[in-house]
Amino acid sequence: MEKMSVNPQVFVNPVPLVLVTAADERGRSSVLTVGWAGGLCADPPFVGISVRRDRYSHGIISDSGEYGVNLPTRHLLEVVDYCGTVSGADRDKFADTGLNPEAAQELRWAPLIHECPVNLECIVTEVLRLGSHDFFVGEVVSTRCREEWVGDGRIRADHGDLLAYSTGTYLSVGEDLGRRGKSFRPGG
Ligand SMILES: Cc1cc2nc3c(=O)[nH]c(=O)nc-3n(C[C@H](O)[C@H](O)[C@H](O)COP(=O)(O)O)c2cc1C
Repeated sequence: MEKMSVNPQVFVNPVPLVLVTAADERGRSSVLTVGWAGGLCADPPFVGISVRRDRYSHGIISDSGEYGVNLPTRHLLEVVDYCGTVSGADRDKFADTGLNPEAAQELRWAPLIHECPVNLECIVTEVLRLGSHDFFVGEVVSTRCREEWVGDGRIRADHGDLLAYSTGTYLSVGEDLGRRGKSFRPGG
């Protein structure tokens, strides 16, 4: 297999897709689609998001110091695409999409999305200024999940319903390849 060099670039794909919600004390609110989101630490729990500095939502998250991370399922695909294309500076994306805001438990302003089965509430603890994007480090202060996805106090998502994304294409998570712990063991 021959390889060739390409420009240094971000290719850690596919990525999960989330809808990030934000609002501030001035009454601004927004919801945007984010592919650069990820778990950072288990204890205490942290989830980070990378948001381009010129996004309408960037100003709201910076000012309020909080955001919601809402996991959409495949029936919300068109909403995900809309929220990733249109700016809250121009449109009220909750009104346009029919998404229902749900009150957060711990956040002061940011709503959550009722239609998303999992909602994380995050308080910004650090902002890394990287260039085009800032990376917000958020401590997860509350997690809520659709009851049927919870087992033994843990979230056991219906993975096939969650969304991913790679190089301009939306993906479903796909085939189940087996449980963790099935690795090859030397001599085994
Ligand atoms: C699939 C997908 C993934 C995206 N991922 C990100 C991301 O990780 N960070 C980001 O800043 N914008 C991302 N965007 C773009 C924003 O969602 C989009 O520009 C949005 O309209 C910004 O909304 P706002 O202006 O209300 O903040 C993504 C868009 C799509 C469609």
